[in-house]
Amino acid sequence: MGDIKMFSGEKIPLEMHKVRVVQKLNLPPVEARQQAMAAAGNNTFLLHNEDVFLDMLTDSGVNAMSDQQVASMMVADDSYAGSATYYRLEAKIQELFDTKYFLPAHQGRACESILAESFVKPGDVVPMNFHFTTSKAHITRLGGSVEELVIDEGLNPTSNFPFKGNIDLIKLRECIARVGAEHIPFVRLEAGTNLIGGQPFSLENMTATAKLAHESGIRVVLDASLLQDNLYFIKTREAACKDMSIRAITKAMCANADIIYFSARKLGFARGGGMAMSDKAIYERMKDFIPLFEGFLTYGGMSVREMEAMTVGLEETMDETVISQGPQFIEFMANELLKRGVPVVTPAGGLGCHVNAREFLSHVDAHAYPAAALASAVYIAGGVRGMERGTLSEQREPDGTEPIASMELLRLALPRRVFTMSQVLYAVDRIGWLYENRKLVGGLNFVEEPKTLRFFFGRLEPIGDWQEQLVKKFRKDFGDSL
Ligand code: F0G
Repeated sequence: MGDIKMFSGEKIPLEMHKVRVVQKLNLPPVEARQQAMAAAGNNTFLLHNEDVFLDMLTDSGVNAMSDQQVASMMVADDSYAGSATYYRLEAKIQELFDTKYFLPAHQGRACESILAESFVKPGDVVPMNFHFTTSKAHITRLGGSVEELVIDEGLNPTSNFPFKGNIDLIKLRECIARVGAEHIPFVRLEAGTNLIGGQPFSLENMTATAKLAHESGIRVVLDASLLQDNLYFIKTREAACKDMSIRAITKAMCANADIIYFSARKLGFARGGGMAMSDKAIYERMKDFIPLFEGFLTYGGMSVREMEAMTVGLEETMDETVISQGPQFIEFMANELLKRGVPVVTPAGGLGCHVNAREFLSHVDAHAYPAAALASAVYIAGGVRGMERGTLSEQREPDGTEPIASMELLRLALPRRVFTMSQVLYAVDRIGWLYENRKLVGGLNFVEEPKTLRFFFGRLEPIGDWQEQLVKKFRKDFGDSL
């Protein structure tokens, strides 16, 4: 794809689509935002969306759909068993991933649950580049544990290495030798590594990882939820792939994996999920869980409308102009924040822009959840809802101690094709203001801490009156502005 150059020489992310359906937004005044945040227990998951101006919580299930996707939903074949819609989806997956079998599931974590039920035994170890919250929770609930083998650059927020989601092959070899292949049910590779800033791995690294695992008879599982971003980065950053089509890169990646699973809330711009494989024994081992937990084999808990939209969305993912929109907007946002001195993860990855809360709020104690405090402050400052991706998102150890996350990030997701550049610049402006006033922001304490996935429903309170001080400063600097 040729780049569109500006006469001014400026580099801006230019949309290759136009907006045809819109949703009205609401920006409550700063005092109301402070109240809404308090009512939500300082947890952005517990805010009501009507109190949110820019919802940057996640890219999950909230990407804009294309006209073709919406149109396809009208011709869905509604039936419990044998729906034509299902066979269209199955055929598209088989075509794009080059796999023989497909199992539908209602979303990504359902795949993770079935994967763990099928393969993980107590004492097993699952090596991976980096964990995702739900993937780890399902492995540990069955008595397994995870080992994160991402390269050291992956945990350095400002290393300019282009593939910070790569597996460290030396660590993987050492892990297999130490644990023993018989205790490793699979190696999990997460495309567009979510919790470390949406960082990709290279095709070269994936191929070498798969070779190493397969030499020891260990299965390779690809979490393809963020595949579209990873495809874009392989295409634009990996010299050996620059002349390959997105379709060819997809096939080459999938050829390394024994099982590919995904959340279609991200991949395919719809809602749903599924697993693809070519080995009949693997398929048979997982198949029975689908009618037990999800639904009949030809819908797996999904609505037929979503399956139609997913089929079209997966095909559209093969179009470089479609998958470049997310990463280009994220890069733009990251660069604008950097201009204002705000520490962000670089190079910009996929999914969203990731602010380094550990550095932004270096005066806040690690056990007072700097990223959660920053998420709360960013909402108060601008009605922008982000997501904590740090210590609060970790699980406590069985003995109750709290591990400090290797990265303490505030994720500002950019759901694909949803926000405009002026909205992004508004968010940047408010975060820039907050950075100037960062010393006003303090930490948070739990008042209610759930045992499982505590970040979803946990409630916290500010330590001291920093939120009142922040609102006062906002009024001083912004007058009667919303
Ligand atoms: N794998 C990855 C890499 C993910 O990012 C997610 C979800 C899942 C699996 C689980 O998929 O939500 O459909 O059950 N990530 C969302 C997020 C929740 O906000 O990052 P799911």
